[in-house]
Amino acid sequence: MNVFDAITKRRSIRAYKPDPIPEDKLNRILEAARLAPSAKNRQPWKFIVVKDPAIRRALVPACKGQRFVGEAPVVIAGVAETTDYVLTCGIPAHIVDIAIAMTQMTLQAMEEGLGTCWIGAFYQDEVKKVLGIPPDKQVVELLTLGYPAESPAPRPRKSFDEVFAFDRYS
Ligand SMILES: Cc1cc2nc3c(=O)[nH]c(=O)nc-3n(C[C@H](O)[C@H](O)[C@H](O)COP(=O)(O)O)c2cc1C
Repeated sequence: MNVFDAITKRRSIRAYKPDPIPEDKLNRILEAARLAPSAKNRQPWKFIVVKDPAIRRALVPACKGQRFVGEAPVVIAGVAETTDYVLTCGIPAHIVDIAIAMTQMTLQAMEEGLGTCWIGAFYQDEVKKVLGIPPDKQVVELLTLGYPAESPAPRPRKSFDEVFAFDRYS
């Protein structure tokens, strides 16, 4: 699958088959994160790959009751090891870096025939407790991963003219 196909066909998947993910597929998806670019190549991340069903179930209330978080065979937490590096432009680097790595995983998952959903609706302290993450780290996002049990229609997007300006802001 070429990258543009992966981008256009990707949907947030919120229903998963229970089938496990083959190790080779999972490893390529994790490599897509490990090889991601990051500011100053600091790679300020740790990804926790959660397969244990009891831990996945414990994540459900920490994710505001989103049941599919417990149903997906794998949930990946993107954790910032450091949060103090701010880009010259004023944007905290760890958020950008981890978002890029997670995005690369979503696209490689498409190539592997797997679905994903970003999870931003979670309680920081509860997820840290479930996953044993030290207080000074920050969970930036979670990602569910598994074989899709639904094929959602595309969600609407703003029009080309709304999202692009050329040469000057307009
Ligand atoms: C940062 C971020 C956080 C999100 N958090 C959640 C979430 O907690 N639960 C959920 O079901 N979807 C979540 N989503 C998925 C969005 O709702 C989804 O990407 C959007 O509606 C567009 O749909 P699509 O991904 O199918 O194109 C999140 C997406 C992003 C990028």
